Amino acid sequence: MNNHIANSTSIDRLGEQIAALLADPATTHGLARTLRATAKEIELSRHHRASQRAFPSGRIEAAPKHIQVGGGAHRIDGFFNIDAAPPADLLWDVREGLPLQDNTVEVLFSEHFLEHIDYPMSAKHYACEAHRVLTPGGQLITGVPDAAHVLSRYPTGPEQAEEMVDRWYAKRTCRQDINTYLDLINYVFRDQDDDPAYTPHLWAYDLDKLRQLFTEAGFKTVEPWAFDPTMANAKREWASVYVVATR
Ligand SMILES: C[S@@+](CC[C@H](N)C(=O)[O-])C[C@H]1O[C@@H](n2cnc3c(N)ncnc32)[C@H](O)[C@@H]1O
Repeated sequence: MNNHIANSTSIDRLGEQIAALLADPATTHGLARTLRATAKEIELSRHHRASQRAFPSGRIEAAPKHIQVGGGAHRIDGFFNIDAAPPADLLWDVREGLPLQDNTVEVLFSEHFLEHIDYPMSAKHYACEAHRVLTPGGQLITGVPDAAHVLSRYPTGPEQAEEMVDRWYAKRTCRQDINTYLDLINYVFRDQDDDPAYTPHLWAYDLDKLRQLFTEAGFKTVEPWAFDPTMANAKREWASVYVVATR
């Protein structure tokens, strides 16, 4: 048995042990939270390993020119969708790099994805990988929740939170726990939810931070992007910041 298969087997076994512990009512709340996060990572690594078996070089051969990363259910005409979880054209954990050839992509788009990967390690790696795969003149378009939007209104009363709560959190289990404006700020910075389907926010961004991140990765220019609803998810326009970084 080679190391790769042995590793996969132990990860799968760990997944089964975690499922058993999560089904056990004696498992404490704190441990269950950590186990749910681990179970989620195991699920992502299962998808990622399956795709790695299909593309052992770590690069897909026929390089698509228009890519969306972390699109979830949002599709864009003519774009190839890479996401760590279904649905997607390719299931791939982008924290491991982009499975694309150098200098081949014309447009790389993501929205409400970057804040879900850890900073600095994975966010900086993603910025460098985007720079590697884009053609000279190619565009990296990135949208994230705008931390400046929520911070600029603080301090204020809970009524100022209402619009954002209704637009972003109305369907979430955390809805009844946002009682003050600071609760809302907490959600924007480290969104967490005991719903196992939800992934937390790991870093907050504004225009300056996006500029700095992509400039450091080698992009020539980083400018605000004029929201285009034929590409972006219309529900993301409000209170988000988008930039276009040109290689
Ligand atoms: C909040 S959803 C946003 C979905 C869509 N972009 C939108 O605006 O409606 C975040 C997406 O990023 C994906 N994602 C999170 N971490 C990822 C990773 N490491 N690699 C690839 N995709 C990831 C999630 O699976 C999910 O589809």
